[in-house]
Formats: sequence, structure tokens, C-alpha cells
Amino acid sequence: MLLDTTSPQFRHDPYPTYAALRETEPVSLINEPVMGQAWLVTRYDDVVTVLKDPRFSNEGRKTAAVQRKAPWWTPKVLTTFQNSMLLVDDPDHRRLRDLVHKAFTPKMLQGLNKVIENVTDERLEKMARKKSVDLIADFALPIPLTVISDMMGVPVKDRLKFHHWMGTFLEIRSGTKLQMMGKMLNMMQMYRFFKSLINLRRRQPQDDLITALVNAEQDGDRLNEDEMIAMIFLLLLAGHETTVNLIGNGTLALLENPDQLHKLQNQPELIDSAVEELLRFTNPVEQPAPRYNLEEIELGGQKLPRGSRVLVSLASANRDEAAFPNADKLDITRTPNKHLAFGLGIHYCLGAPLARMEGKIGLQRLITRFPNMQLGVKPDAVQWRTSMAVRGLKALPIVVE
Ligand code: HEM
Repeated sequence: MLLDTTSPQFRHDPYPTYAALRETEPVSLINEPVMGQAWLVTRYDDVVTVLKDPRFSNEGRKTAAVQRKAPWWTPKVLTTFQNSMLLVDDPDHRRLRDLVHKAFTPKMLQGLNKVIENVTDERLEKMARKKSVDLIADFALPIPLTVISDMMGVPVKDRLKFHHWMGTFLEIRSGTKLQMMGKMLNMMQMYRFFKSLINLRRRQPQDDLITALVNAEQDGDRLNEDEMIAMIFLLLLAGHETTVNLIGNGTLALLENPDQLHKLQNQPELIDSAVEELLRFTNPVEQPAPRYNLEEIELGGQKLPRGSRVLVSLASANRDEAAFPNADKLDITRTPNKHLAFGLGIHYCLGAPLARMEGKIGLQRLITRFPNMQLGVKPDAVQWRTSMAVRGLKALPIVVE
């Protein structure tokens, strides 16, 4: 099927298309602009199968279909990224995840509560001095960007720079060939940037995650340099390009559903279930990493040849009526709510407790501080990013006065 996943119409509201696919072609062969053919899986149960069944591998290079060599001009950072925990299977995946997982446990994160509250309040203060703001640049982005950069040890001056490069990485599957060249240049700069961070921490160790990784490398064979670069790339990327969408899309969803916004304002104790429902309803990550089946597999009435590229739509699964009654309705009291926003199986989001904390503090304080905030544009005029990996807004004009 010809599905233009980058068209503004689809980005604006992909849900009717997903509903039709779930109904008629739940595992469908699509053609992507840059990446070519792939199977798109849209039903909740099938998505669960792909995420949990080890015959679906994250390690593309294991199967013949992706053993073809990357073109000579592929930036090193992209080939190096193949060594990240997200793109390898166990046991390498487990070894890499174990190196950092302690830093992301709820207990370790307790100390971050104050940091998140401080950056949130600082941003709210700045916003209060303006009449209208861009909620993404002024609020939703700075919270996770500051927190993950502090945890990793990225100097303040470099933060917006790497955010910009990572934005182009996420949009890499869309755009023209010429735009692709510009993106490749960004990728090269990003590689040099990661190397410079590692060198900085070798010279000046600090109490941060990059120093911990440098120490792990020096301790022996637990981590090589490519894996270290891939780890820094993954943590910085996943640490902010996701939560920005929870806060941004979440705010938009609440403004478009004023009954739910008022309910949350009147019953702040609902914040935990509200954040879960906003994760389900707004899908900050639309499509996780592609999977590659290690043998021929039958799924949703289709025979997937070995080595197929299989894309699962978390956004579609989270709106599947078979799993969620009234799936297209935002209900901040929804229970149970077994959404797949953080994935499932061995690659389940490492940063879920951190993302929940940032989402709760950010959204709660925003709606308390500006109880009468309004959308600054018509809902139809809101622009979405073209990336299929994340579902996020380019900007969100809000009148806070
Ligand atoms: C609302 C915010 C977030 C959402 C919706 C989200 C979603 C996800 C999803 C769906 C996956 C699974 C990917 C796959 O199976 O291919 C994932 C993995 C991951 N996430 Fe998150 N994430 C969020 C925030 C964070 C944060 C704040 C961090 C902090 C660094 C983080 C770090 C990671 C890492 C390292 C992985 C890979 C885990 C592995 O391969 O074992 N995420 N995330």
C-alpha cells in the first residue's frame, strides 16, 4: 500500500488511517520515501507479539536483508549507533543496559525531584512575563533537555546545539536528497561532539554519567569506544526528544478536552492516571526501533519473509478499540490502562520513571500556574513534525495571560 507517512494530513491526524488499517490490513506492506519497503503492524495484540517474541530482532545486521553494506557516505555516527542497547539483542543488550540502569531507578531519581521542580518553576516565571509563548521551546523542551544534560554532564553551552542535530536525525527518513546532504553534515558534527565530550571527561572527571561510562571503559572490556558513543547518543536522544512530546502533546490534548483539563485542575490527585492516559492518547513515541524477523513468520494473515523490516505502530495499538473501550476518547481516570507508550519486552523504556516524573511535575505546575491558558492558533493550524519515530509538535503557541 502507498502510505505517505510524512504528509501534513497524516502527521496532523494519523488515527483514522490507523483505524482503517487495523480493520482491513492489520499487517500491511508499505513503501517509505527513503527506507523502502516495510511491514506496518497496527493491532494491539500483534504489536505485543512483535515486541515480546525474540524471533523479532532489533539487530538488523543479523539478517541477510540488512547485511548489505551501508553506502560509503554514511556518517560514522549512524553506523556507530548500531552499537546502542536499543539496536542490539541480548546478551550485548543486557550488558549495556546494566551499565546504566541503576542511574534510572526510581530510588536514584528521588534526588532529581528538586532539579525538575526548579527548572519547571524557572520556566513558568519566564513565561509569566510574556503574553503568549511557544510551549515547546519555552517549556516542554527545556525541562527534559536540562535534566538529561545535567545527568550526563553536557555543558550548558552545548545543549541546544545537540538538540538541533538530533532533531535532524529523527527526521532523517523524510525530505529530499539535497536535504539529506545537510543532515549528513549535522551527523558528522554530532560524532565529533560526542568524542569531545568523552575526551573532556577523561581529562576532567565529574559526578556524571559520561564519567561513569569512561570509567567502565577503563575498567576492562565492559564497553568499547563505539559502544560508549552509541550510549551517549541514545541517552541524550531518548532522554529529551520523547518527554518534550509528552508535555507538548499532553498540553494540547488537555486544551482540546476542557472537561478533562477542569477535572484535573479540581482533582490534582488524578495526575498519575492523567499522565498514563496522556501517554496512551498522545503517543510521544509513535514507532519504536524497527524489528527484523530471524525466520519466516506469519502475522496478521501475512507471511513475513526472513529479514523483513517490521514497524510497529504504538500510536495505533494505543487507540485499538479491542484493547481500550472508547479508545479515541481522552479519559484521565481510565483504569485499567495497559498502554504501550513505553514499549514492552527487553527494550521497555529505561527512562520511564524519569519521564513520568517530568511529565507529572511539568503538567501539574503548568495548569496550576496558568489555569486559563488558551491555544494561540486554531487547532487545525498546529504543525506536527515529520518524524515517524516520535509524534511531536514543531511549536505550540499558547496565550498564558
Ligand atoms: C514520555 C517519554 C518517553 C517515552 C514515551 C519513551 C518511549 C520509549 C519506548 C517506546 C522505548 C522502546 C523502544 C523499542 O522497543 O524500540 C524506549 C526505550 C528507551 N528509552 Fe524511553 N521513552 C521516554 C523517555 C525516556 C527518557 C527520559 C529516557 C532517559 C534517558 C529514556 C531512555 C530510553 C532508553 C535508553 C531506551 C532503550 C532501552 C533498551 O533498549 O533496553 N526514555 N523508550
